[in-house]
Amino acid sequence: MAENCRCVVLVSGSGSNLQALLDRAAEGTLGAEVTAVVSNRPNAYALERAGAARVATQVVDHTAFLDRATFDAGLEDAVARFEPDLVVLAGFMRVLTPDFVARFGGRLINIHPSLLPAFRGLHTHRKALEEGCRIHGTTVHFVTEDLDAGPIIAQAALRVHETDTPDSLRERVQALEHRLLPQAVGWYAEGRLRTEAQRVSVTGHADPPGELFAPAPEPEW
Ligand code: GRF
Repeated sequence: MAENCRCVVLVSGSGSNLQALLDRAAEGTLGAEVTAVVSNRPNAYALERAGAARVATQVVDHTAFLDRATFDAGLEDAVARFEPDLVVLAGFMRVLTPDFVARFGGRLINIHPSLLPAFRGLHTHRKALEEGCRIHGTTVHFVTEDLDAGPIIAQAALRVHETDTPDSLRERVQALEHRLLPQAVGWYAEGRLRTEAQRVSVTGHADPPGELFAPAPEPEW
């Protein structure tokens, strides 16, 4: 990967994950530059975060396009203009067409608020509670044509507490996301991600042994 990995971030809302990337980039610890932020919503708070960090922004408002194909063509042009090495979907709430995915395939990643392949789509925290999950979390993955289904780069997990609500889970999972996404971007920027079939490995990285039990085992076990 180029020394200077140009990263374009696509957003629709608050942009707390964008903020995590901007903070690491400002510290010089991201290993990539946030070149531009593109939003499909003109009023997304993420645009203010980008502005405060003096990062270029562009709005491609989906409501101004006739259909998904023409919107995606406009989005593709807008993103391509910034010549990205990596395109990050960070709370981008539009399903992308196969044409868009083909254009940026292999350099397009998404962060999703569940431990994929569980709970693709929306309302992941509510679904995890409804299913009685003891462990829940977040996934960074390469984007393919199928929704929330591309090769998994990294995941982070937490125990679900009896007192958790969808909102409390969202808050705790997002705190994990803000660590996981910059790490995954850094690995990509360093050229350390290898994909074979559906499996991604991180070259030069040895995982420590570790398990997560939920509920935690009694001390005498
Ligand atoms: C995150 O939870 C992410 O997993 C999902 O959308 C949310 C975006 O939050 N895709 P933010 O805009 O980064 O605060």
